[in-house]
Amino acid sequence: MKRYHLTTFGCQMNEHDSERMKGMLGSLGYSEAPSREDADLILFNTCSIREAADNRFIAHLGEAKRLKSESPDTVVGVGGCWAQSVKDEVFERFPFVDVAFGPGQIHKLAEFLASDSITAQGFFEFEDFAGHLPTERDRPFQAWLQISQGCNSKCSYCIVPSVRGREQSRSLADLVGEARRLAADGVRELTLLGQNVNSWGRDLPAGERVGFGGLLRHLDDVDGIARIRFTSPHPKDMRDDVIAAMAECQSVCEHLHLPLQSGSTRVLKAMRRTYSAERYLGLVERIRAAIPGIALTTDVIVGFPGETEADFEQTMEVVDAVSYDHAFTFVYSPRRGTEAAVMAEQVPEDVKRERITRLVDLVQRHAAAHNATLVGTVQEVLVEGPSRTDPSMLRGRTRGNKTTLFRADVAEGELALVEILRSTSQTLGGRPAVTAAA
Ligand code: SAH
Ligand code: SF4
Ligand code: F3S
Repeated sequence: MKRYHLTTFGCQMNEHDSERMKGMLGSLGYSEAPSREDADLILFNTCSIREAADNRFIAHLGEAKRLKSESPDTVVGVGGCWAQSVKDEVFERFPFVDVAFGPGQIHKLAEFLASDSITAQGFFEFEDFAGHLPTERDRPFQAWLQISQGCNSKCSYCIVPSVRGREQSRSLADLVGEARRLAADGVRELTLLGQNVNSWGRDLPAGERVGFGGLLRHLDDVDGIARIRFTSPHPKDMRDDVIAAMAECQSVCEHLHLPLQSGSTRVLKAMRRTYSAERYLGLVERIRAAIPGIALTTDVIVGFPGETEADFEQTMEVVDAVSYDHAFTFVYSPRRGTEAAVMAEQVPEDVKRERITRLVDLVQRHAAAHNATLVGTVQEVLVEGPSRTDPSMLRGRTRGNKTTLFRADVAEGELALVEILRSTSQTLGGRPAVTAAA
């Protein structure tokens, strides 16, 4: 039996694509190898969102080159966003690569492997939706549900539209059908995936356009799914019907990841985000009014071209005013082919570093404060497995997406009520709650 080794970089979309690669390889008779040395097929699913992502992957590729020189029959495959962004150039730069394919071309890997091809091949055309490939899930009780692919936004810093193509939505019937199948297969928590989930459905035929709020309501009706999450929505498409659906659907978790990117309206405009800082703050107000206690998280980019100290201070003000539960903070990284990469006034590296340090410090203070307010409350936790650092503890997440550690005799995939006793900026700790009925 042939064996493969797959390394995944990047976002949840790539993790999900990797589950599909695994499912597909399984159906071709491949099994997973514990390390690259043991593999007949060495695969990488790549990301190109920031320069650091490229560099990390290229270091790994060096090991594949060495292994291939030791056993020349090894097949080396590179898929995903980085592959798409360099296309056939990959074979010139890395002649030991046998097959390369973009994120929309996973199924071509199977074709390549079945064809006994001896020449290197690349597959980079955008095609129809690839949502129907077999998948191999990491955990039986959690699943991704890809609702759309691609992105029609034009954020000036972002490489995603050029590597993932135009937005294409899956039909409502398709999605509800898959959610039912997943529920029957033991899935309790569904995470809807898309580059811009709340613009879902605009490309569907008129009669099928129920909007993202409508989709949430249909999925909420599926029996057996206890929790629904989604990532990422765009503030421009966060309409009142979506907020109302979030508030009214029992299974939709009280957590929203709402990318801010910058708190300066001037910078937001240069980023082509199509909202102002004021509109974003107004949106947050409406969301908190409709869903009290909702956990809010975000993405922020520091050091976008032309960002002044005053712009950055406005970002600090918005982050302080919203008071996020958590934020992913990034130093701006110029990406090939994007509008911002060629803008004058690139911010010096040391200025970016100094700013991000201040931002991270602010974010952590708010995260710690939010988590501290949960001490003394009882939270519903979906148990995901043992703690990574202390196997005698269980680890799971609350509906607000907080990692929670506790000791109890509860199986993975079960929901437990946990009384929160301690908190840090990163995690909560507690014990099984003594409920009134017990
Ligand atoms: N489609 C999603 C995810 C985009 S990538 C969304 O729009 O929210 C995840 C995050 O990476 C972005 O939200 C942004 O904060 C960051 N990012 C994207 N391009 C970047 C770049 N060139 N430099 C630094 N951060 C970037
Ligand atoms: Fe990139 Fe903007 Fe699309 Fe997100 S919405 S993937 S940041 S272009
Ligand atoms: Fe995701 Fe990276 Fe591609 S963040 S969409 S894998 S460029």
